[in-house]
Order: sequence, then structure tokens, then C-alpha cells
Amino acid sequence: MKRSITLIITVMLLSFVSSVVMAEKDRNIQPTEIKFSSQLPPDGNLLLGVYENGFYGSFGDSIDENSNNGLTHAIKASEYEAKTMTTQLITAPVGSGFNQILLVGLGTKDASITDIEWQNIGGNALQKAVELFKQVPSIALDVDPKVAANIAFGAKLGSYYFDKYYTDTKRHKHQQKINFVASKNKAANKYYSSELNPVANGIWHTRNMSNEPANVIYPESFVKQWSQHLKGLDNIKIRVFDENDMLKNNMGAIYGVGRGSKRPPRLMVVEYMGGNKGEAPVALVGKGITFDTGGISIKGSNNMWNMKFDMSGAASTMGTVFALASRNAKVNVIGVAALAENMPGANAQRPGDVVKTMSGKTIQIRSTDAEGRLVLADGIHYADVTYNPALLIDLATLTGSVGRALGKDYAGLFTRHDDLVSNFISMGKQTGEEVWQLPLNDNHFKAIENNVADVMNSGPDAPGASAGAAFIGAFVREDTPWVHLDIAGVAWNDKATPSKASPGSTGFGVRLLNGYIKEYYEK
Ligand code: BES
Ligand code: MN
Ligand code: ZN
Repeated sequence: MKRSITLIITVMLLSFVSSVVMAEKDRNIQPTEIKFSSQLPPDGNLLLGVYENGFYGSFGDSIDENSNNGLTHAIKASEYEAKTMTTQLITAPVGSGFNQILLVGLGTKDASITDIEWQNIGGNALQKAVELFKQVPSIALDVDPKVAANIAFGAKLGSYYFDKYYTDTKRHKHQQKINFVASKNKAANKYYSSELNPVANGIWHTRNMSNEPANVIYPESFVKQWSQHLKGLDNIKIRVFDENDMLKNNMGAIYGVGRGSKRPPRLMVVEYMGGNKGEAPVALVGKGITFDTGGISIKGSNNMWNMKFDMSGAASTMGTVFALASRNAKVNVIGVAALAENMPGANAQRPGDVVKTMSGKTIQIRSTDAEGRLVLADGIHYADVTYNPALLIDLATLTGSVGRALGKDYAGLFTRHDDLVSNFISMGKQTGEEVWQLPLNDNHFKAIENNVADVMNSGPDAPGASAGAAFIGAFVREDTPWVHLDIAGVAWNDKATPSKASPGSTGFGVRLLNGYIKEYYEK
């Protein structure tokens, strides 16, 4: 008797412990922490920024001195030219105290190099260092504080590895911490912490969310995770609509998309009121399809797995609000995530069904696979009439068509307000998240006219991306300045890039929108 009780207690204890361990393992990968200091480490390995023409900066100079010009000799022997986006591994010179040094090329001193280029230099060097050292050593930079901050920002983004599901820890490449040894480290840290790190963290959470499979991220868990991220930030209010709230508010379009799934739809509305009271906000509305099977108009199975990323627009809107709130931006911004899982099922909506939206307009469903514009119809109308935004931006992985037109280089931009276009294009260049304008004209609005309902959700007669844009535009009041960003081609990249080590989500939109709002709306 006694024995069996002990056994039961032991089993209970063990299962409790293992569930805690599991929970620990299932936690999201925390953003890499960036530290700035002023002192070179005494020994070990090192990354060292060096310029062309033998200019090493103060850290390089001291290493060169301690080693009797050993650094100069080592660089000469390796024939390293210190061009940007290159690195060179050398054995550290005797007397320097170090083992190995990875030289990081900074180009010609005083050459004009853009922020993006510095960021890419940081990301590229970081990824090299991970491959070489596993645990990344300190990175010594004698550069302008803003340059150091941008290199650190790039290194953090470049250190994004989605490796939480590898049980073999030898495969793990995530770095918990990266140390920067920088001249003027206080100034570098100040600029980095107030302006760049909040954005990096917003991108980080966005990528995590998009990379997660759809058995982990569905409408309710999306809401839960973002609520946790936003908890504790000032001036944030969150409101979540469930199915009943949707029905009460006549949101028949988002409700209809969610019907086929066991996992109910949600509309997550985040108000960040960091600006003046009563000032019109910028509203960001994101497509949040946590998985897109196509519904009854089911997709082919090739690459369907990838449709877990179909909530990337919603993730980027939340990531942007997170970034703005984290740096206490003096601006009012609304983030709306229109969330549903698009599944076939006994209760799913059918092609031919007619749904009524919050705006009052009716829609004939032609393809249940054109679901993004449906959830946005209600989400965007709600944002428009509730907040009278100064600018309304929607982000959506809306069409395959935009990827065929623009590839991975640009998101498609559509608007009725052409005066906004050049500002978006230049902010895209500045932030590395580029956009290209595609047409939106009367023909595209004609293409969605319907003889059964007011509009239909897909028409045969228009370029797909423009028809999708027109459909969304039909739910925005014409006077509201509105921009639609189709990010279907750019939200995901199967290749590693300097700003992202893992194949997968790019977090596209956070840098662009953070930059745009900062430039044109912040006080
Ligand atoms: N989520 C897809 C768009 C997509 C397709 C993104 C491929 C990335 C890669 C969207 O919901 C969709 O299915 N769009 C259809 C629209 C059509 C049915 C009018 C498309 O683009 O084929
Ligand atoms: Mn679809
Ligand atoms: Zn979709």
C-alpha cells in the first residue's frame, strides 16, 4: 500500500517535472541581447572591424602595438583588403593575447555607406562568426556611434535562427548575447536602445509568429502571444472580438472565413495612444490567416505547408505597434489583426454563398481561396469608421500574382492616393523593405462587380493583385488616405540573407512602417 502510494506520487512528480521541462522547451526563442562595453576582453577569440588601407582604429592599434606590429603583418600575409561584406580569419598575433581574430571589412574609411549597408555588414559578420565559433566572441568596432548601433542592429537581425524545434542541441545556433566593444559605447548604446532595439524586437516576435506552424499559432494563440508581448508597455489597450461579437457587428465576411475551422476567428484591435489626445491615428490592418488551405476551393498539396505564413500581415502590424510602443513613440496608432483559419469542413462556406459585411455591402463568394480580402473587408471597414484614421495601411499576403510580378525584391503597393507613393518608395529604400506601385484603376473595380451581390471576391478579368486591391478598396471610404501592401512575395524567403539566418519569415513591414510613421507622423 505504502509502496504504491510512493510510486503514484513519484509518477505524478515526474510528469509534473517533465511538463515543466516541455513548457520550457516550447517557449519562443528570446531576442538576442546586445551589450555595449568599452574594454577589449583579455583573451579568447575576437571579431575586429578593419578599414581598407591599413586603418585599424584604436582597438586594432592596441593589438598591433602589443604584438609588435603583428596585426599589420598578419593582415599583409593574408592579403586581406577589408572590402565591405567580406571577412578574413587570421591566427591572432603573438603578444595580442587572443587566439583567433575574424577581421570584418569596413571598406574605405569615410566612404559614404548607408545604414542598410552597415546593417548587412553586421549580419554577414555575425553569421560568419556563428559558423566559425558557435559561441560568437566580442566584436570590436572603433566607428561612429550610429554606425556601431546599425552594425549591432544588423547583427541582431542576422542572428535570427528559428531552431527551437531541434532536439539535438548541437544544431542550435541561436546566440543569447552578443558583446560589442565600441569606442563611444555609451552613445552607441543610447541610440541603439532607444531607436533600433525596439524595432529589432518587433521584427523578432513577428518572425517567430510567422515561422510557427499552424498547430501552434491559430487565432486565439496569436492573440495570446501578442497580448503577452504588449503587456507592460504604456498607452496600450487591447480589444478582441470573438465570433459572437462578429455576428453582433454584422462582420459576416470574417465570420464566414472562420466557419470551416474548429479554431474560431478573432479580430484583435490594439490601440497605442502615445500621441496627442484627439489626434487622428494611423491605422494598420493585417491579414491574419493562420493557415490557408483554400477552404472548399482547396489548394493543391504542393507547398501548402507554407500557408502557415498567411498571417504575416497581421504579425507585422502587431510587430510595428510593438516597436512604436517600446520606443514610446509620440504618435497614435491602431493595429488590427483580422484572424481566421481557412479550412474546408462541414460548416465551411461555399463558392456561391453570399455574406453581408459590417459596411452593409454584400459579397458573393466565388472562391473560398480568396479569403484574405474577406477578413480584411470587415477589419478595414471597422478601423476606418471607428477611428477616422489620418492614414490607413493594410498589409496582406494576398495574391500569388504579386510574387510573379515583383518577386522577392518589392512588395506591391496599391492606392487611390498617388501623392503617398513617392514617400513610401523612398522609405522602402531607406529601410531595405522596398515597394513598387502597381495599378489600381476603374477597370479593377469593374472586375469585381457582381450580378447577385454588390461585389464578388474574385473575378476572372483582371490582374489578380489589382483585383484584390480593388476589392479591399471597396471597403475603405474614398476620402480616407489608404495604401494596400501586398506582401505575398516578400514575407517569406527560403534563403538566408544577411538580415536573417534562417530560411522563412522576413518580418517584412515592421521596418518600413516604423520608419514611415516616424518620418511623417511622430511628434
Ligand atoms: N494566401 C494566398 C496568396 C498566396 C499564394 C500567398 C501563394 C503566397 C503564395 C491567398 O489567399 C490566395 O489564395 N490567393 C489566390 C486568390 C485567387 C483565388 C483570386 C491566388 O493568389 O491565387
Ligand atoms: Mn487563399
Ligand atoms: Zn490566403
